Amino acid sequence: MSETAEASFTATSRGCKLRCVACTSEFERAEQDFRCLRCGELLEVFYPLRRAANAEYAQHLRASWLDRKKSFKVLDQSGVWRFRDLLPAMQDWRNVITMREGNTPIFELPRCAKSAGVRRLLAKHQGMNPTGSFKDTGMTMAISVAREEKFRWVACASTGNTSASMAAYAAQGGLRSLVLIPEGKISWGKLSQALDYGALTCQLRTDFDGCLRLLREVIRRLPVYLLNSVNPFRLEGQKTTGIELLEQLEWNVPDHIIVPGGNLGNSSALGKALLEMKDLGLISRLPKLSVIQAEGANPLVRTVRENGGKSLVTVTPHTMATAIQIGNPASWRKALHILDTTEGTIEQVSEVEIAMAKTEIGSDGIGCEPASAVTLAGLKKLVRSKFVAPEESVVLILTGHLLKDPEYTLKFHRGELFAGTAHEEAEKLLKSYRRESIVLDADADAVVRALEDAEKQPV
Ligand code: F0G
Repeated sequence: MSETAEASFTATSRGCKLRCVACTSEFERAEQDFRCLRCGELLEVFYPLRRAANAEYAQHLRASWLDRKKSFKVLDQSGVWRFRDLLPAMQDWRNVITMREGNTPIFELPRCAKSAGVRRLLAKHQGMNPTGSFKDTGMTMAISVAREEKFRWVACASTGNTSASMAAYAAQGGLRSLVLIPEGKISWGKLSQALDYGALTCQLRTDFDGCLRLLREVIRRLPVYLLNSVNPFRLEGQKTTGIELLEQLEWNVPDHIIVPGGNLGNSSALGKALLEMKDLGLISRLPKLSVIQAEGANPLVRTVRENGGKSLVTVTPHTMATAIQIGNPASWRKALHILDTTEGTIEQVSEVEIAMAKTEIGSDGIGCEPASAVTLAGLKKLVRSKFVAPEESVVLILTGHLLKDPEYTLKFHRGELFAGTAHEEAEKLLKSYRRESIVLDADADAVVRALEDAEKQPV
């Protein structure tokens, strides 16, 4: 362990301060678990010296962000650090660990638009980040702070993507990383990433919530830097996805943004970006930000529906979308604040709806991991309930790459996904969505016949 690692971090030297999201106490430094010393709730970063809305400054920001796109400087090539004017500052910019994250594309989803019943549907694909998920945008920020604070070890509890991202960035920056994952509950694709990038990978016989609880105990005993999304610096990095999205839309504000909800860090970060952009005059109105959860891992949905958001209703989570198999989300208060201020909503979707939506996104040539597909499944329900009107503009945030969980996809197409489960009947319903891989003799005639047969089938 590094002798110099400290148990608290200075925020003021980074041009920002920390504030409790519940009791609003302000802090110059945070404890190692990033919780409020007075009430134990989460902290958020804020910028006391930031200018108020001002058209000239907003124009200056937009122009300099565009200008940096022409630069070959490492910082400018990162889709996170290009927006560094709105991020905590580094004391020494050479401490930044970046893999040119962000810079993710927006795609049209014409087939999905049709099946959801909207005129036009866009998806920002965060699975196109260096390690295949949105986690990289937050990781570059928080792990750079860890290096600057001279930590030798970083750690996270994870459903897979955070661990893959943390392990990669730690390796790039010469840090050691500790991963706690729930045994048998994450996809092999993600586990294999953490192993290849050299993390100390511990599979614990518990769920994600249990891993996070245990990690809080570990960091009390050892000088290890916590990289879960309770770390407010991570959310500052993730915030840039919202800024990049609006820039890509040439600052035309969409009516709706739809994200999956797990530990609820991502929805909080995107919402924070929207509020800050509004405060700075970069946008003139807010899109509605809505959060979709799996029916079997729906603590936010229950919290809103059962007690109006007063206190968190935790659940024992079960979903095949393992990335969002979380029953006790840390950032629930932050996410509720965003739902309130942007006038977004919550929705839950079934396992069958997720599977169907995932293959529909695939049929537009995009693809994503199961947790990301809840966005399309949720949109369909929001159109049916008239929360989203057909002519409104909608952006789905796809959070992870299709190849993160190939086992799920193969099982789906083989008709095995729901075998032996309560949803077995659904296999019949899903039949028309499945594509088989056919085994043929090595014979051109056989391939030609297969093509001619396929030509007769509806696409
Ligand atoms: N989508 C994917 C692909 C994820 O990996 C996660 C979370 C989410 C959505 C939900 O985001 O937690 O910010 O609400 N994955 C975490 C992990 C928990 O450990 O990789 P959230």
